Amino acid sequence: MAVTRTFSIIKPDATRRNLTGAITKMLEDAGLRVVASKRIQMTKEQAEGFYAVHAERPFFGDLVSFMISGPVVVQVLEGEDAVKANRDVMGATNPADAAEGTIRKTFAESIEANSAHGSDSDENAAIEIAYFFKPEEIVG
Ligand code: TYD
Repeated sequence: MAVTRTFSIIKPDATRRNLTGAITKMLEDAGLRVVASKRIQMTKEQAEGFYAVHAERPFFGDLVSFMISGPVVVQVLEGEDAVKANRDVMGATNPADAAEGTIRKTFAESIEANSAHGSDSDENAAIEIAYFFKPEEIVG
């Protein structure tokens, strides 16, 4: 299997509860390496653009409001099959469906305030990484 990269967000519900370190530790324990990281306050325009694929969904407005309700930590993660490794440790979108030991089962407050984002394909990972990071900000 190849070493690849994925894109992660520690969401506002988690930064608010001071869980940045705990979530990063779970990512690292899953074999992922943080090769870029920054804490930012997303703008409404940034959040709308990031979730543009969901623009027609009924939850879009609330999701954007939630994502700008506080700081987030955006990260680039590197590891063997990074997209899958990240999604496995993150768990299902709805914490009620997430497996024991996953980030969302452990920390998520709701399907919306679900503590973490992880890209769902290598193609989207590349797009999402480029949305938040310049190449020189990523140090492998
Ligand atoms: P989605 O891409 O389906 O899930 P995932 O984050 O697991 O890849 O949805 C993106 C985010 O939208 C999700 O993390 C939380 C939010 N969301 C809701 O608020 N309500 C919903 O019913 C769904 C499906 C998602």
